[in-house]
Amino acid sequence: MIKAVIFDLDGVITDTAELHFQAWKNLANSISIDFDKEFNETLKGISRMDSLNRILRHGDAIDKYTEEEKEELAFKKNEEYKQLLAYLKPENIYPGIRECLDTLKERNIKIGLASASKNGPAILNYLQITNYFDTIVNPDSVPSGKPAPDIFLKAAETLCVKPIECIGVEDSEAGIEAIKKAGMYAVGVGTMEIMKQAGADLVLKDTSELIWNEVYEAYCHND
Ligand code: BG6
Ligand code: MG
Repeated sequence: MIKAVIFDLDGVITDTAELHFQAWKNLANSISIDFDKEFNETLKGISRMDSLNRILRHGDAIDKYTEEEKEELAFKKNEEYKQLLAYLKPENIYPGIRECLDTLKERNIKIGLASASKNGPAILNYLQITNYFDTIVNPDSVPSGKPAPDIFLKAAETLCVKPIECIGVEDSEAGIEAIKKAGMYAVGVGTMEIMKQAGADLVLKDTSELIWNEVYEAYCHND
């Protein structure tokens, strides 16, 4: 019996994963570091500071900056990212997401947000879908970020449901790992190879395939 669906935000509800990529790439390039889409996959689901540390390590520059300078770099990235976010509109919600949220509401299935982003509430506001969510977990309120299960467990706890009664939806490897460690059924949106390797129970090419009846059917036939 499924009582809640807990969504990731960036790259699941809207295309902000691409905006994170643009803002990080510009920041990295400004300090003579470059990275490609493949490396960017390893940043998905990872907190702002951890992402910066990974980029610096990738560019062999981890020892070049003090903590204060790193805070400044992360701030700069976020300022650019926030400018990109200001263009977000309800039309930017990924295909199938609103329909899925409507179906969940009709069936009295709770809806949670488990995003590592501190910009999550602002993004939901731009997209005008805040009201669908029964809980939005503050990523600062949990001890460890993804791939630790904490944020998904906190969502379930706040919604007063057991992890086994939840489905998590993610586009990142770290996120799928977090859902599985939380003991939930994991729906991965993205490349079959990457999502399967991360441990997804069901892989969807994109969110247009997030049709509740079909997902529920797959969940019921999971062994
Ligand atoms: C996750 C993204 O949802 O949020 C990461 O996948 C991002 O790429 C993280 O670093 C933190 O986001 P923010 O908006 O707080 O910098
Ligand atoms: Mg994501």
